[in-house]
Amino acid sequence: MSTGVDTETFVVRGSGPIKGTVHVPGAKNSVLKLMATTLLTDGTFELTNVPDIVDVTIMGELLAALGVNMQRPAPGQLLLTNTGQITPVAPYELVEKIRASINVLGPLLTRCGEVRLSMPGGDDFGARPIDMHISGLKAMGAEFRFTDEYLEARCERLHGADITFDFPSVGATENLLTAAVFAEGRTTIDNCAREPEITDLCNFLVAMGADVSGIGTSRLTIEGVERDALRPVSYYTVPDRIQAATYLAATAVSNGELNVLGIRPDDMTMLLDRFGDMGLQMSPVEIDGASGLHVAAPERMRSIDVATLPYPGIATDYKPLIITMLSVADGVGIVTENLYPGRFRYVEELQRLGADIGTTGHHAVIRGVPRLCGAEVQAHDIRAGAAMVVAGLAAEGETIISGVHHIDRGYDDLVGRLSAVGADIRRVG
Ligand code: EPU
Repeated sequence: MSTGVDTETFVVRGSGPIKGTVHVPGAKNSVLKLMATTLLTDGTFELTNVPDIVDVTIMGELLAALGVNMQRPAPGQLLLTNTGQITPVAPYELVEKIRASINVLGPLLTRCGEVRLSMPGGDDFGARPIDMHISGLKAMGAEFRFTDEYLEARCERLHGADITFDFPSVGATENLLTAAVFAEGRTTIDNCAREPEITDLCNFLVAMGADVSGIGTSRLTIEGVERDALRPVSYYTVPDRIQAATYLAATAVSNGELNVLGIRPDDMTMLLDRFGDMGLQMSPVEIDGASGLHVAAPERMRSIDVATLPYPGIATDYKPLIITMLSVADGVGIVTENLYPGRFRYVEELQRLGADIGTTGHHAVIRGVPRLCGAEVQAHDIRAGAAMVVAGLAAEGETIISGVHHIDRGYDDLVGRLSAVGADIRRVG
């Protein structure tokens, strides 16, 4: 894993079809939450199928500051030891680096009865408020105080509450779920998020001894348990559906053929249906005990219209990949963003590569062109960065991508994995 310094670039050349087999690791957006959840109880946890990404390192540093020590004895494996000496003060310099740092709020509050946390950082695509986290925790008995830099929360033992979200927020669902584990009585969360990563967190909590039901639905019920009811466990992280989609997109734009292994196609049904509409041929495959999908690209993809929605809808994190694919598809596609209105910044980078895209409000209209042309572009966030790599594979000539530290936050050796299947891509600097 690179440390992702700012001077590094990825240099990509569109060099024909990628072919071969890629193994997809575990999901960033699950493992970071599993890591935060180890704050709940003392002892040593083992997490496997862990991606080798910078955000895991940052979360490990944050947990170390709070009282949970991380070791990486082998690739894909983490040992997290909760020392029992938890300090519920999260330092600014770590919290501001990743959005998932907000996930320590629920566990710290329910375990320690107090938390001091600076406001979380993360990606550069507009305001990302945490009002639903706060109002849910208030309904469970927490009191909040805000200063310019910090959020402070306090409670006696939290109590169960019936909470209904206006919108199925991933982070708010996770924080309330983890906080409710030790609350007195029953908590229900209606209209909660039900992404596969939430299901993974629920299953992790149940393995630890928590009482969670309604898993995978939009209504979770948590019966609070006593502190000594939880125990550390060994747990396999759910595969990363966004990394999986990245390899499918890379195959599609390079007219390639790939086995994408270690993934759960059932967690990506709606996306795979739409990729099918674009002309990708996909079938289940199993190689040496690892299962996944065999994907073959059509000569030219067909355009489609897509709107992002909470799971089971098409995830906003897929969108930069989809827009990149539509940039070289046959016809006109319209993509509507329903989660983050500001998440179109990478469009101007695609335009630099010759894509014909117009945006109005939360819609993008993409008129496919036969081929993009290499140029210098920037990765503004993790997913936009991955889309730049895919765009580079769809371009004549050389594409130089800067800002690759964003990509390293969420992608485990993207360059190595793509090179191994024949892509002309290298890290420079
Ligand atoms: N929102 C509020 N108030 C809240 C919480 C959310 O208004 O209290 C709004 C947000 O501003 C946003 C929308 O609701 O417009 C969605 O936010 P959500 O809470 O669902 O997202 P998140 O937990 O902040 C996670 C992922 C994102 C992914 C979104 C949506 C992590 C660390 N991040 O963010 O992933 O886009 O869910 O699926 O899990 C990424 O991995 O690159 C990434 C950005």
